[in-house]
Amino acid sequence: MVKVAIFASGSGTNFENIMQRVTAGELPNIEVTALYTDQAEAECIQRAQPFNLDVHITELKDYATKADYERAMLKQLEREGVEWIILAGYMKLISATILDAYESRILNIHPSLLPKYKGVDAIGQAFTSGDKETGTTVHYVDSGMDTGQIIEQRQCPIYEDDTKADLEQRVKSLEYELYPKVIAEIIQ
Ligand code: GAR
Repeated sequence: MVKVAIFASGSGTNFENIMQRVTAGELPNIEVTALYTDQAEAECIQRAQPFNLDVHITELKDYATKADYERAMLKQLEREGVEWIILAGYMKLISATILDAYESRILNIHPSLLPKYKGVDAIGQAFTSGDKETGTTVHYVDSGMDTGQIIEQRQCPIYEDDTKADLEQRVKSLEYELYPKVIAEIIQ
């Protein structure tokens, strides 16, 4: 079994989807040690409950520097023997402290066809772009913002009468299929 930690900051539906797959035996090589979040009020915390999973809340405001904040998380990761980190809507850049310890062992999913629409509100950026398609990307994490090596992408159309919520739901449906598939292939 490979021990993984999932990092999330928001609603946590990708986190929940991965946990459902793990529980259903679809990711048999993976043991999720805990959910790590940087937001004490995040909805993802509630989503962890049915899985009886540990949740570690670490807030940047409680530390003098980002390095101190990451050192606290790293200590916990090492205590649990975590080998891989899965980012699922974790909305902070991973900095050197964690990156150096987990080089090439951090995955992220981003809701655009990278290198298009990096950073925050990628769905909104695609929605207002006039593009006819968008999608999602799973990639390795490096020190840049959504710049790491791309592993796999999935496309979907943008329709003229879409609302932003329609588009977000369509992209998330792709994510719920793509991310577990890539995790199963990459993390062995
Ligand atoms: C997902 O769409 C994910 O791709 C995106 O945040 C959303 C989280 O949704 N990640 C990023 O934008 C990272 N740059 P969720 O909390 O419901 O899984």
